[in-house]
Amino acid sequence: MSKIEVKPAKQLDEPTPPGAPEASAGVDWEQVRDWDQRYVFHVLATADEYQSNPVASADGCYVTLADGRRIFDFANQLICVNMGHRHPKIVAAIREATDKFGYVWEGMTTEYRSRAAKLIMEDIGVGEWAGRIRFLSTGTEAVENMVLFAKLYSGRRNIVTRTYDYHGWTNALSGANGVRGYRSSLASGSGDQAHVDVPDAPSANYHYAPAPHCYRCPIGHTYPDCKDESGTLACVRATEHLIRSIGPESVAGFLTEPAQGAGMIHPPKEYFSQIREMTKRLDVLWLDDEVMTGFGRLGEWFGYKVYDVTPDIMAVAKGLSSSSLPAAGVVLSKEVAEFFDQWRFNTMSTFGSHPLGMAAVCGNLEAMLEENILERVRDLGAYLGDGLKDLEERHSCVGLASGRGLMWSLELVRSKETREPFIAVDRYSTYTRTEETPASAIVGRICMEEGVAIGAFLPNSIRLATAFVATKADLDLGLAALDKGLTELDRYCD
Ligand SMILES: Cc1ncc(COP(=O)(O)O)c(C=O)c1O
Repeated sequence: MSKIEVKPAKQLDEPTPPGAPEASAGVDWEQVRDWDQRYVFHVLATADEYQSNPVASADGCYVTLADGRRIFDFANQLICVNMGHRHPKIVAAIREATDKFGYVWEGMTTEYRSRAAKLIMEDIGVGEWAGRIRFLSTGTEAVENMVLFAKLYSGRRNIVTRTYDYHGWTNALSGANGVRGYRSSLASGSGDQAHVDVPDAPSANYHYAPAPHCYRCPIGHTYPDCKDESGTLACVRATEHLIRSIGPESVAGFLTEPAQGAGMIHPPKEYFSQIREMTKRLDVLWLDDEVMTGFGRLGEWFGYKVYDVTPDIMAVAKGLSSSSLPAAGVVLSKEVAEFFDQWRFNTMSTFGSHPLGMAAVCGNLEAMLEENILERVRDLGAYLGDGLKDLEERHSCVGLASGRGLMWSLELVRSKETREPFIAVDRYSTYTRTEETPASAIVGRICMEEGVAIGAFLPNSIRLATAFVATKADLDLGLAALDKGLTELDRYCD
């Protein structure tokens, strides 16, 4: 493959032009809404609560609603459309592939899969540690496969993960989720907090170490006073204690996200180097879930690069294809890959390495390289971070603005002094409907009125991300809407 040439990307200050074609033409939206309400199974809402949210099209960092309103996507959907909706290079790559393929299975070698692997291993420079990649379709599958590989490699059954982590939704993986409400459980819509864990899914084989959540340390410490004489953080000491209590010889891996995407927490800078030293010393694999952080989100290709460590196995998805088509992967270290080279892995996935998905991966990664995307993410991320820190200073309801690259969050508090959250259950549970409206929903509603969609899944936190093709003018629009929403929430502060 020829060397990738870096081209000038869209200027950072250039406003995003209105680009959506007239996508609503000829669509009967009343009918769409009716079929949706009647037949589709919906997540995150009871049948009574559910309201259709018809979307006609999406382009760049905007979505156009059926009523023609154009919304700035300040949530980047599920933090997954890294290069924006309908990036021309990705669209062209998929179109070209549809001229050649409908489908072939993963037992056949396509040009697209080989090119995708080479782009990841060589051009993006995943690093010397990496040996092989297996391609799959979704993030959950990739993490599931990572756990499976770790168990087969080590012959051990336990997985240590952390509170406030999120790794996927299936029966087997739901127990890996340390944000309790995200364990594919049921939350009542009637006002009480009752909910049901999936029977037997959070199996005894998942164990939760404390999240590195310095703003509200789950084990009662204060950063940086939590360090011992050797400089080791209290949460790292607690993690080692947990692994030792279970018995390292029975632990297949320590499973983490570099930045907790559902839990919305970025660890202190020392955390991962200490975790890595500890997992190596105890001979436990580090299973790095980069489904959300992979491919530039934090201003580096992968989260582990931010912290200058390397994993044993890594799962990727979302940003791998900028979510244009389902595509995911599991990257094995050389050592782990050499082990599996000796064996037949007796299974297959129908959609794993789908040729159209692999073409989308190629178009996406080539676009990232050509547009020198890391520099852009760092520049936009610094601008966004300054804007959010300014909001933190000016609003009584913002306890903390934290983040990196284009992945940020705001902690909403009743009082900056006490850090008391608006809704007591915070990250422990899915928030169910009660008389109290979640603080994040109040801000979300006002932002939406201003034409800006934000992430408001947890009751006291706001999740902010954008496509890397956004401009500073787009971010200004988002920040102005947030300013309005937070001003309303300030009224509820002590
Ligand atoms: C860190 C992480 N792991 C795994 C997943 C699951 O990915 P998917 O929704 O593609 O199955 C997600 C999704 O948000 C994620 O953020």
